[in-house]
This record gives sequence, structure tokens and C-alpha cells, in this order.
Amino acid sequence: MQYARFGGPEVLEIVEREDPQPGPGQVRLAVRTASVNPIDWKLRSGGMASSDAPEKPVIGGIDLAATVEALGEGVTAFGVGDEVLGHAVGGAYAERALADAARLVAKPAGVSWEIAGSLAVVVTTAYRGLALLGLGEGDDTAGKVLVISGASGGVGVVATQVAAARGVTVIGTASERHQDVVKGLGATPVVYGDGLADRVRGLTAHVDAAFDTAGKGALGDLVALTGSADRVITIADPEAGTYGVTFSAGADGEVEGSLADFVAGLAAGRYRAPEVVVYPLEQAGQAQEDNRTGAVSGKLVLTTA
Ligand SMILES: NC(=O)c1ccc[n+]([C@@H]2O[C@H](COP(=O)([O-])OP(=O)(O)OC[C@H]3O[C@@H](n4cnc5c(N)ncnc54)[C@H](OP(=O)(O)O)[C@@H]3O)[C@@H](O)[C@H]2O)c1
Repeated sequence: MQYARFGGPEVLEIVEREDPQPGPGQVRLAVRTASVNPIDWKLRSGGMASSDAPEKPVIGGIDLAATVEALGEGVTAFGVGDEVLGHAVGGAYAERALADAARLVAKPAGVSWEIAGSLAVVVTTAYRGLALLGLGEGDDTAGKVLVISGASGGVGVVATQVAAARGVTVIGTASERHQDVVKGLGATPVVYGDGLADRVRGLTAHVDAAFDTAGKGALGDLVALTGSADRVITIADPEAGTYGVTFSAGADGEVEGSLADFVAGLAAGRYRAPEVVVYPLEQAGQAQEDNRTGAVSGKLVLTTA
């Protein structure tokens, strides 16, 4: 499922391509499920590009769950037939994809293909955000108070649970319809939008840090609540610079072992996955639109089966 020009969902097209060949350290995967992330439609629209058209056709999608089909030179961590999940290289919306073996983890048998394919981006982003705020594994986290903006979203669901498991008191923002979701993750829910700072002050006298995963204009309130832009990070708000807040992008790297840690917690029943909604790969455009407009909530996943 590729696009050769920027635009709406109509630029996505199914094409036949040669199977990709894994380079050193890579594997070729038979894809079962691929995740739909907001970055997929942001890139497809051209809104993040500096040119009028992609240099060459782009296969969408970043993360997936799949079966290993072929091994590149030097790969010993996995064998042909292994079931894995993680980040793809060069696109995940496809029947075949490449991945660096180092960015894959084994899929536990008890984790469904749909959930497995939904995890890598949101999990690694959530762990990175917490670590940047000094709320990583091994940090002094007990009793800290964290506001997560967008606690009901893909990144937010993971960040909320992991922070709570580290002894952090989490106040999580969501729409009215998702207040119970946030509560079920171990956080105190609060509705987002105008007056957020006052609503949070009604719950706590002190906020140590804030993680904006929604990017919908909450930074002013979050800086006011923590008392310092240094105690706030965003992964989505383009106004970060205006507030002196750090914008963390995927290129900032990831916390080693984060995906394996969350997947182990999921398999053991300590964590729950974001709710998934499944679309056939052919309906990638519809899935991207439903994610963009918020018409369908939960983590949207494409399946090749
Ligand atoms: N920089 C990075 O490395 C990185 C990585 C991953 C994602 N991102 C970005 O982070 C954002 C979230 O990604 P995601 O996958 O978690 O998305 P998602 O699953 O679509 O979640 C979006 C969240 O935003 C909330 N929200 C919607 N409208 C809002 C509003 N007006 N005010 C406050 N909150 C609102 C939603 O709450 P309700 O559903 O309850 O309305 C939900 O909690 C996207 O912009 C994505 O591109 C960045």
C-alpha cells in the first residue's frame, strides 16, 4: 500500500512489488498486522515534507507484527518462522516488509496478532517520554505526580500504566467518553480543554511533571501546573518552542529494552493493551481517516489475513 504523491487517503494505492531482500542485520517479514499511527497520515498528506512530492513511492506504516521469512547476514537472534513484533524499515503496510532484527522482539503466544502489531511505536514513545521527565526505570519515581495529556490515546494508555506501575500518581486527560478508560489504567481522569489547570489544581496541590501526548494546545496549562517548562515535554504540539517546552521526536532514540519490558508485562497480565480496531490492509485510507478525524477511537490496526 503505497503513495507516489502527497494528498488525502485517495493517494494510497495497492501495487505489486518485488519481495524486499534483507541486508546485513535485517530480516524479511511476512506481515500479519501493521499499526496505523497519526504520523502515517501526517506524512502522507505532505504536511511534514519540504518538497512537493515524495522522491520515490512510499510504503506507509512504521510498526508491525509478523513472521520471520528470511534472514540477512549476521542475524542470529531470530530464525525463519519466528513470530515477532516491532519497527519495520521502509514501510509496514505490506504483505512483506524488512526490519532490523535489533528492533524486533518475540511475540508471546498469548498476545494476539492485532495487539502485537499495535505496540512498537506507542510503547517506545511512552517509555522515552517518561525517561525524559526523570520518570524512567531506576529513577526516583515513587510519589511523584505526573499529568498525562491524552491518557486515553495509544501513547497515553501505555505511559499511564507504566508510570503508575513505577509508583507515580498519574492524572490523565481524556474526553468525557474515555474517563473510565483512564481510571481503569490506574490514573485519576480529568476532562481536557479550557480550564484544565483549574481542574487539575482541584485534584492536587503539586504537579512534578507533565507529558503531553495529544498536542492539542495544553502546553500553557501544563507549564503553569508544573511551574517550569523544563518539567514538561510534548511529542505532538508544534507550539512547543513558544512555551520553551522540549519536543521529543522518534529520532531521539529509544529506551533500551522498552518494547520487551512492556510486552512481558502484557503477557503476564500486568499491563493491558490499547483497545484495537482492525481493518483489512486494503482499507488503510479509511483507517487513516478514522484516526485523523477521531471518528474511531482506540488503536487502529491493518491486517493482511
Ligand atoms: N514525536 C513522536 O515520537 C511521536 C510518537 C508517537 C506519536 N506521536 C504523536 O502523538 C500524538 C498522539 O499519538 P497517539 O498514537 O497516542 O494518538 P491517538 O491514539 O489518536 O490519541 C490521541 C489522544 O489525544 C486526545 N485528544 C483528542 N483531542 C484532544 C483535544 N482537543 N485536547 C486534548 N486531547 C485530545 C485523545 O483523547 P480522546 O480519545 O479521549 O478524545 C487521545 O487521548 C499524535 O499527534 C502523534 O503523531 C509522536
